[in-house]
Amino acid sequence: MTSAKKLYIKTYGCQMNVYDSARMADVLAPLGYSTTESPREADMVILNTCHIREKAAEKVFSELGRLKPLKEATRRRGGRMILAVAGCVAQAEGAEILARAPHVDIVLGPQTYHRLPELVATATRRAGGVLDTEFPVESKFDHLPDASAPQGVSSFLTIQEGCDKFCTFCVVPYTRGAEFSRPAAEVLDEAHRQAAAGAREITLLGQNVNAYHGAAPGGGEWGLGRLIRALADVPGTARIRYATSHPRDVDDELVEAHRDVTRLMPFLHLPVQSGSDRVLAAMNRRHTTADYLGTLERLRRARPEIAFSSDFIVGYPGESERDFEATLALVREVGFAQSFSFKYSARPGTPAATEPDQIPDEVKSARLARLQELLEAQQRTFNRSQVGRTLDVLLERPGRHPGQLVGRSPYLQPVHVLAPARLVGALVPARIIGAEPNSLAGERIECEERISA
Ligand code: 5AD
Ligand code: SF4
Repeated sequence: MTSAKKLYIKTYGCQMNVYDSARMADVLAPLGYSTTESPREADMVILNTCHIREKAAEKVFSELGRLKPLKEATRRRGGRMILAVAGCVAQAEGAEILARAPHVDIVLGPQTYHRLPELVATATRRAGGVLDTEFPVESKFDHLPDASAPQGVSSFLTIQEGCDKFCTFCVVPYTRGAEFSRPAAEVLDEAHRQAAAGAREITLLGQNVNAYHGAAPGGGEWGLGRLIRALADVPGTARIRYATSHPRDVDDELVEAHRDVTRLMPFLHLPVQSGSDRVLAAMNRRHTTADYLGTLERLRRARPEIAFSSDFIVGYPGESERDFEATLALVREVGFAQSFSFKYSARPGTPAATEPDQIPDEVKSARLARLQELLEAQQRTFNRSQVGRTLDVLLERPGRHPGQLVGRSPYLQPVHVLAPARLVGALVPARIIGAEPNSLAGERIECEERISA
C-alpha cells in the first residue's frame, strides 16, 4: 500500500508540455500521488516549463520564489514538499536552477520523465537537489506507463520529439534534442486506448511532427502520411490533426493523405516565419517563399477547402523594411485563417542571439502591430466567409449560456450551438449564423447525429 500524496503540476507553453504533464502524473501514480489543483496542499510540485517565450527562465525563478514559503510552511507542519522543475527551461538552465534556487529538489529535462520515481526516491533520501538533463539512449516512451487519464473528446498524442532543423532563432534543438519518432505500432495502440476512453479527435504532436519516420509494424519505416492512413481506421476517431509542421517535410505521401483521408481535417498550421528569402536563409529555414507557396498550392490542389495558419517572427536580426514588406506581401498572397506572430527575441545559446544587427524594440513593435492588423483582418474575413455554410462541429463541452455547447469546426474555430448536454462528443452539422473574431455561432441542423466524419 502506498500512502495518499498530492501532486500539483503547473504547465507552461505548448500542447506537448500538457501531454508530458499528464504522463508525469501517470508515472507518479504508482507511488501514491494523485493530482491536486492547489500547490498549498501538495507533497510534490512540478513546474513543467517552456523556453520559447521571452524571459521564460525569469518567470520560472519568480514562481520558484513564490513556492519557497509554501515549502517552508509544509516543513513547519512536519511534512516535506518535493519541488521539481521539468521541461525546456530545466534542460537549458540545468545546474543554474539548483544554484539560484537551492530549495529545488529535482531538475529534469523532457527526455527523462520516466526516471521521475527514481529521482523522487533519491531526492527524498538526500539533501541537495538532483539533476537529470541527459538525453538518454533509451526512449522515455518505452519506460512510461500507458497514459491513464482520459483527455476528453479532443486528445493529444505525442508521436515525435526533438528537432534537427536548427533554425537560428530557436532553442528547441538544444532543449528537446535530436529528432526521434515513436514506432507506429505504439502510436496506434495509444490511439486505440484514447478512442476507447472517449477521444473523437486526436491531434498528433511533435516539435517537427511531419519529419515523423517511425518504425513500421511490418518492418521499414512509415512517414506521417502513412501513419495518418492507419490512424483513420481506429474505430471512434472522427478527426485527425497534427502540429507543428515544417514546410520542408511536406512530402507527397502527406499531401495524398490530405486528398484521401476525410478524417484528416482541412486545416494546417505550417509556420513560414518570414516572407523574405534573405531572412529565411539567415534563419536557416532551408526553404524559400516560392517553396512555401508551392507547398500550399500542392495541398490546395489535393484538398480545395484546406485553410492555413502560420507563425511569424518580425525583427529578426538584419530584417530591413523591405524584408518586412515581403512578409506582408506573402500574407496578402496566402490569406491565412489564423496566425501567431512574435517579435524576435534573442535566446542565449542560439546563433541569432549573437548576430550584430539586432533590431531596436520600437521597430519590432511597430512591425508587429502592422502585421497583426493584417493577420487579424484576414482571420475576421475567414470567419465571416463561413457564415451561411454548414460545418461539422465536434461538440466538446458546455458553453457559457444554459443549453449551449461549444465545439470546434474543421478549422479549429470554437462554435457555439444550442444542443443538449448528451451530445458532448458528437459530431453534428451546424449552419453558421454568426462570426466573431475568435469564434462562430452555429445552429444545429436537426438530423441524425453523425457518428463519423
Ligand atoms: N523569438 C521569437 N519567436 C520565436 N519563436 C521561436 N523562437 C523564437 C524567438 N527566439 C516562435 C516561432 C515558432 C513559434 C513556436 O515561436 O515563430 O514557430
Ligand atoms: Fe525550432 Fe521548428 Fe526550426 Fe525545429 S523547425 S529549429 S522546432 S523553429
